[in-house]
Amino acid sequence: MSKMLNNFLADDQLSKAQIQQLIELAIKIKNNPADYSQTLAGKSVAMIFEKPSLRTHVSFDMGIAKLGGHSLYLGQQNGKLGERERVSDYAKNLSCYADAIVARVFENSAIEGLAEHASVPVVNALCDLYHPCQALADFITLTEKFSDLSKVKLAYVGDGNNVSNSLMLMAATLGVDFTLVCPQGYGPSEEMINKTQTLASESGATFTFTSNIDAIGSQDAIYTDTWVSMGDEDASKKVTILEVFTPYQVNHELMAKAGASVVMHCQPAHLEEEITTALFDDENYSVVFQEAENRMWGQAAVLVSLLNPALAT
Ligand code: NVA
Repeated sequence: MSKMLNNFLADDQLSKAQIQQLIELAIKIKNNPADYSQTLAGKSVAMIFEKPSLRTHVSFDMGIAKLGGHSLYLGQQNGKLGERERVSDYAKNLSCYADAIVARVFENSAIEGLAEHASVPVVNALCDLYHPCQALADFITLTEKFSDLSKVKLAYVGDGNNVSNSLMLMAATLGVDFTLVCPQGYGPSEEMINKTQTLASESGATFTFTSNIDAIGSQDAIYTDTWVSMGDEDASKKVTILEVFTPYQVNHELMAKAGASVVMHCQPAHLEEEITTALFDDENYSVVFQEAENRMWGQAAVLVSLLNPALAT
């Protein structure tokens, strides 16, 4: 059995065994939700959202209800975390009532602050650096598509952001070969690259980082995300972004070139920018709604593991 989960904050804090256990549990809950319908009975989850959300909000709320728990949505009415009251006080107050805290925040330091000061588990529901709930849903989806993750080749094409960071860290931990293709100047930080390389060399996976879209090589799945993330919008940069990123658009031509059979996107998609409408809607390739559904089962597995670990195996 893998080491017990205390929080779910960043992909590189999870071992291969922990991620594999979460994937297995998510698929078990998905196949037999009735068996887990009381696993969070009597438990309350506070959900803080500093940024907008559709999938994360709904999948947590409905997933928690399916496990017999209760969730409370705390939107932006309290302003940015740490402004009206300290992050530490926020964490300590919520710990008086809630059994877990789910938070979508602007800065990773707020997630870390919550985890440091809360006496209950904290789940990162997206920050500037990571989106681990999404990466978990994506590897559940890839397991469903390909069974043996160790044989899968996954490429991410586009902006180096929270989603690509989480994907490459989780891929490297799981032993999945990963190619990251970002325009020059839009890749991840040195620190993130180094962390990924270290994890990949431990698991035996390959990690390739390039800005040459022609070097994408042969892939099973291609992933993309919006060219501008929430909080980074700047209308004056829109023209430059479109110019720089257009050669990196994920479309049928790129899929054919890489021989890829699956296209992935965390959504919301900016259709005709990072991905064509035709490919996004093409059910022969697109698994975007399977990923969206698996958000709920992945997060259910995380919450069961945090709050009722005896039932997590
Ligand atoms: N990179 C995107 C992901 C949205 C789910 C963002 O942070 O806006």
